[in-house]
Amino acid sequence: MDTTPDTSWKRFFEALGPEGYLSETFTKNTDAEVDFVMDVCGLTPGMKILDMGCGPGRHALGLAKRGLNVVGVDFSDKFIDFARSAAADCGVSDLTEFVVADARDFVRARTFDAAVCLCEGGFALLQTDEDNVRVLRHIAASLKPGAPFLLTTMNGYRTIRLAGTATDTVLDSTTMVESWIQDDGTELKGRHFIVPELERMHRQASLTVEAVWGGTAGGWGRRPLEWDEMEVMFLSRKVGINTQP
Ligand SMILES: C[S@@+](CC[C@H](N)C(=O)[O-])C[C@H]1O[C@@H](n2cnc3c(N)ncnc32)[C@H](O)[C@@H]1O
Repeated sequence: MDTTPDTSWKRFFEALGPEGYLSETFTKNTDAEVDFVMDVCGLTPGMKILDMGCGPGRHALGLAKRGLNVVGVDFSDKFIDFARSAAADCGVSDLTEFVVADARDFVRARTFDAAVCLCEGGFALLQTDEDNVRVLRHIAASLKPGAPFLLTTMNGYRTIRLAGTATDTVLDSTTMVESWIQDDGTELKGRHFIVPELERMHRQASLTVEAVWGGTAGGWGRRPLEWDEMEVMFLSRKVGINTQP
């Protein structure tokens, strides 16, 4: 059995399944989150948006219901199958395309008016900075110049402040990768970030950061990041000529 960390995450999400995932408390603010994305990204019906690491498609479907053309990408077949049939149930199949792909590989040059990567969708669950920057570069390459990108990911300030106090997780201080062992013995790992690291990674991907806010599910807003909250939010914009993947 392949036990590389990325495969472990795929197996984790497939075991949880779309219904299990959508029963998690942090998924219960989707409508408000979609309205927030529409607002901060300046979206209007007819625009085309990429949802990287879309999971079962809760944001993608909300965006399609508001008239956007959405491409959702995820490496879980189960989540993508669920998103496709949910789109049919909601009558938005013609506005949605769901693609099974690894975030490190997906790119459609200069196609999108905006992109989102929310709640660690295809970012941060990859532990090397090379892989995480690769995802940002592909997202940037997929955006039209000037298009916005909204990311929420793990807030490393909180992780550092809690380091040494947790009984079930271990933070590697040299890599900022946190790991824990599940009941079945599988190890899961996630990269946590401090703000200047994310700012540098965005810059490496030709994305100019416009705002850094608190990004914890249930608490999105144009407000400062708090030291001890779970997630940070970055609003950036693709500038200049698209980078080649
Ligand atoms: C915590 S869920 C977030 C899903 C969705 N963005 C949301 O907010 O509900 C993380 C998602 O990222 C997907 N994912 C993780 N690593 C990925 C990768 N390398 N490529 C594509 N999808 C990935 C998982 O399958 C999962 O659906």
